[in-house]
Amino acid sequence: MAGSRLSVLLLISGCLQVCDLQPDLLVRRFRYVGLQKTWSEAQTYCRETFKDLATIQNLNNNTEAQQAGGRSQFWIGLFNGTWRWSQEEERDSNPSTWFKNWNTGEPGSGSCVSINKAGMWFAKDCSALNAFVCFSAETGQHVLVDQQKSWLDAQAHCRSQHTDLSSIRSLVENAQVSAVLPAQTQMNIGSLFGNLLGGSFSTSTSTSPTSAWIGLHRSLWAWSDGSGAAFRQFGLVQSNGRDDCVLMDSSSSTWFWRPCTEYHPFLCNTDVRPMMMRTVKVRMSSASADLGDPVVQNLVLEQLKKRIEDEEGREVRLNWRMQPDGQVFRREEDTAPPPVCQQEDACGTV
Ligand SMILES: *[C@@H]1O[C@H](CO)[C@@H](O)[C@H](O)[C@H]1NC(C)=O
Ligand SMILES: *[C@@H]1O[C@H](CO)[C@@H](O)[C@H](O)[C@H]1NC(C)=O
Repeated sequence: MAGSRLSVLLLISGCLQVCDLQPDLLVRRFRYVGLQKTWSEAQTYCRETFKDLATIQNLNNNTEAQQAGGRSQFWIGLFNGTWRWSQEEERDSNPSTWFKNWNTGEPGSGSCVSINKAGMWFAKDCSALNAFVCFSAETGQHVLVDQQKSWLDAQAHCRSQHTDLSSIRSLVENAQVSAVLPAQTQMNIGSLFGNLLGGSFSTSTSTSPTSAWIGLHRSLWAWSDGSGAAFRQFGLVQSNGRDDCVLMDSSSSTWFWRPCTEYHPFLCNTDVRPMMMRTVKVRMSSASADLGDPVVQNLVLEQLKKRIEDEEGREVRLNWRMQPDGQVFRREEDTAPPPVCQQEDACGTV
């Protein structure tokens, strides 16, 4: 008893600020960037620096975006027309690097893509009727379906009978898919001559498909990060013409189509790991080392960090909290009140 009373006099205490990184928790935030950029330059900047251009999916997001943007007009991630494969893959995330094999002058205004025997691609009206090529994951083969269907019906057919409409992500795949189309012979000319000559050429009046739908299509409203575009907040005044990118006006918190080549500031998305801060009081019973020495303080901090991380099984960031007298530690004596470790400033985010 007498011994423990003595050790109380040797106790030293300080305030330790503990910031817990929440490894499984990511919170989406907006970041306003005041640089003047075209929409696609802004997209590149956001993807390199943060995550992507901002996606606004509800009224709350819209208010947050408005506040983040201050008093200005800025690009958000919505744009008109993104190409997508019906069977999407991880590696599709950057469309600018995709393999493409457009015929000269394509893609035009059509939003669904067909391939011909020569392997060239054409953007057509999605309601046009066409044969199509399905991919079967089971066999690893592309299968020509010689039935006339709209792109959507063709997709439904492939998904129910095989795996999906065929995707083409390389020259090799392009050759594999175009190979399933029948070779175009002189058949039509042959039958034409046959008729003209009144002869009995046995050429069939074959309607073998000259082109077939593949899985590529364009969705008209899309966010840069690939989110669906159900929520919209367009203002009444819209310009006409081909304005394919969306600007948010924060004074009215509405959106406008603008030409993508205009220069504006922009809003990015980013994911942050929030940190939870707590302050704990640390009491130690040895005064042999000089705890006023920052080197010693850091050594103690490292040991504590290791111990807390072992105990809690997650990463933490530690700091000593300075007392009003400029010291970290205080001798706990009966005369002096122990330091009060209050919750204070937030840790912020990483
Ligand atoms: C937008 O709304 C979603 C769904 O409520 C939310 O998870 C996300 O954090 C919001 N984004 C921003 C940047 O506030
Ligand atoms: C979006 O793109 C389609 C197809 O290119 C076009 O018909 C339409 O007018 C565009 N919309 C706007 C608002 O520019």
